[in-house]
Amino acid sequence: MKIISARDYNHMSRQTANIISAQVILKPDCVLGLATGSSPIGTYRQLIDWYRKEDIDFSQVRTVNLDEYVGLDADNDQSYHYFMRHNLFDHINIDQSNTNVPCGANLNAEEECARYDAVIRSMGGIDLQLLGLGPNGHIGFNEPDDCFSKHTHQVALADATIQANKRFFAHEEDVPRFAYTMGIGDIMSARRVVMVVSGSGKAGIVKEAFFGPITPRVPASILQLHPDFTLVADEAALSQI
Ligand code: F6R
Repeated sequence: MKIISARDYNHMSRQTANIISAQVILKPDCVLGLATGSSPIGTYRQLIDWYRKEDIDFSQVRTVNLDEYVGLDADNDQSYHYFMRHNLFDHINIDQSNTNVPCGANLNAEEECARYDAVIRSMGGIDLQLLGLGPNGHIGFNEPDDCFSKHTHQVALADATIQANKRFFAHEEDVPRFAYTMGIGDIMSARRVVMVVSGSGKAGIVKEAFFGPITPRVPASILQLHPDFTLVADEAALSQI
């Protein structure tokens, strides 16, 4: 595990964008695993800026997102499909047919999870997986559990996740209760994993996840075993280690 200490959110975002940019330059048709949420937005903004300066070319890049709320279709402005278009895909020269997000509109969980796993397999796996860290140690929407999940599956969101994500919705009742998420096994199979974390509110869970025991009760702790895992965090998030 490597830890890159950044001064603040903007510095963390530039450092992470540098790593992703190097990946795209070294392998133009790479598969990027992408995340939503507040943590990667600055990274995406930096990548858009470098694309506009003609420093990065996304024309051959393929992407696979971690998760999506069940019940929200791609045009719903709270969906992760919408988030990705709004925060990245609409602003770069990626071929949108090469981007993948689980389909929240498909309520047949078994069918959708099998379809998504087949997509990941057909791409030959993920070259670089970008992650954020949930307040309870979740990665993707893999919530604290008794065991680590292998593949894409439907999860009931933990109360901590509903509380953390209600800021994006008009009312708490509007937060979907279920999501599709890649499994821990899919994430661990990525050739490289990079996590962005910022703010003092995450300092406790950073310590637990990366300096505590490896347990499915803190799903991110499994990343301690990944052969190429880099945590890019600002000083506030690293303040307890
Ligand atoms: C999002 C995702 C989640 C978030 C996590 C942190 O696709 O998979 O695991 O990365 O909830 O969210 P933020 O960055 O909003 O604190």
